[in-house]
Amino acid sequence: MYTQDQLKQQVAAAAIDFILPKLSADTILGIGTGSTVDMFIDALAQHKGAFKAAASSSERSTLRLQQHGIEVLDLNQIQSMDWYIDGADEIDGQLNMTKGGGGALTREKIVASVAQHFLCIVDDSKVVQQLGAFPLPIEVIPMARQSVTRRLEQLGGTVKWRADFVTDNGNDIIDVHGLAITEPAQFESKINDIPGVVCCGLFALTGASVALVATQNGVTTMS
Ligand code: 5RP
Repeated sequence: MYTQDQLKQQVAAAAIDFILPKLSADTILGIGTGSTVDMFIDALAQHKGAFKAAASSSERSTLRLQQHGIEVLDLNQIQSMDWYIDGADEIDGQLNMTKGGGGALTREKIVASVAQHFLCIVDDSKVVQQLGAFPLPIEVIPMARQSVTRRLEQLGGTVKWRADFVTDNGNDIIDVHGLAITEPAQFESKINDIPGVVCCGLFALTGASVALVATQNGVTTMS
């Protein structure tokens, strides 16, 4: 039996195989955040001469990329990118995702929005029939934490504040437990409309384009 970390290593390696033929001297890669992406960054470093630069979704990934000598561009310098590569906390069969376990959801959604395609890299513990078992992270403006919490409780969730965490943008994260998310895109829109919400951890209005999933029997592709 492979451990979860070994599966993450395998999907990171598969992502390198997937992305390498698509690289050129002009390529800018969008880079997500998390332990799976950390492994991808470490593997990507061996190919840093094959592409131009990266756009990063967090201070954590920026530091790791720069430590490997990979240039990180300000997103304002970038008009478009072909690929954004990131992990997920949950992904369903329609490639809707829950993200933000690491608290980087807002910058992840921003960088992903500049890319044409989203490559999601996960181990198979993240693949679900219906999103919602993993608590849904939401980034909120600190003064709105309680007002947003009340609105989410009206939608049937139980809300917990990550009191010891501040996002790269200086905001709070609340995690919503106990949701059965039957219509992810509609639910994402509904949460986006709550005043004080900076970003909802649902990636359903725009989901993944392709997912690589590491299983005990090898890496499979969902698209
Ligand atoms: C961070 C994220 C991550 O992609 C998600 O939490 C998965 O992380 P990991 O690869 O460590 O399991 O959304 O905000």
